[in-house]
Amino acid sequence: MQAAALHDPHPTRTTPRTDPTVEDPVTASDLIVDPRHRTDWATGAVLGDGVETLERRVADLAGVFADGAALAALDPELLVYRTECVFPVPDGTEGGLFWGTTFIQPGRVGEEYFMTKGHFHATSDRAEIYLTYAGTGLLVLMSRDRTCWAERMSVGSTHFIPAHTAHRTVNVGDDILAFGASWPSDAGHDYASIAADGFSARVLRIGGRPALVPQ
Ligand code: 6PG
Ligand code: NI
Repeated sequence: MQAAALHDPHPTRTTPRTDPTVEDPVTASDLIVDPRHRTDWATGAVLGDGVETLERRVADLAGVFADGAALAALDPELLVYRTECVFPVPDGTEGGLFWGTTFIQPGRVGEEYFMTKGHFHATSDRAEIYLTYAGTGLLVLMSRDRTCWAERMSVGSTHFIPAHTAHRTVNVGDDILAFGASWPSDAGHDYASIAADGFSARVLRIGGRPALVPQ
């Protein structure tokens, strides 16, 4: 996800209440302000200033799925996943953080479940955290020696993605998979390695159930 700077760096400022329906038990003060963002815990929606959205449709995902013919048979405009992200500091800033939610639609390309492109971080030693708001999925992880494994994702599951580890999320359920992520603002995204070599395993439906299948 690309970043654009948006925050004024001033720590003391007054803003309108972002959620006037929540009773405020705190004494009014110019030194106490509302957060600039909220997350809807049920859906993962990110609300507030400067939330940037990005969509990945079938047409954007050539070469990502194993079955190219099955992908070509789908409507190129069909939404596969989208993100709502906040970039409070410029992209590449050392010591900052980005965060956002990814929403993956339910669906398959042939026998392969809808999933993200997946990436290493361009600054390879940057880690990341994911936490699941809705749906069921698998977080597929791959180390630099191409060892691949996966963690089950379900509401509340919390995942540490180590440094030097490619990550891709797969929706294995019938509903939207929504998960939050936070990553360092100098992490960047290396999609090229995955485009060239892929992951060493894919999540396929076998006997009606998802399985992590070495390639
Ligand atoms: C990141 C996160 C996450 C990820 C999305 C979409 O580093 O930004 O891992 O926000 O970008 O889930 O996945 P792809 O970037 O692999 O398409
Ligand atoms: Ni990442």
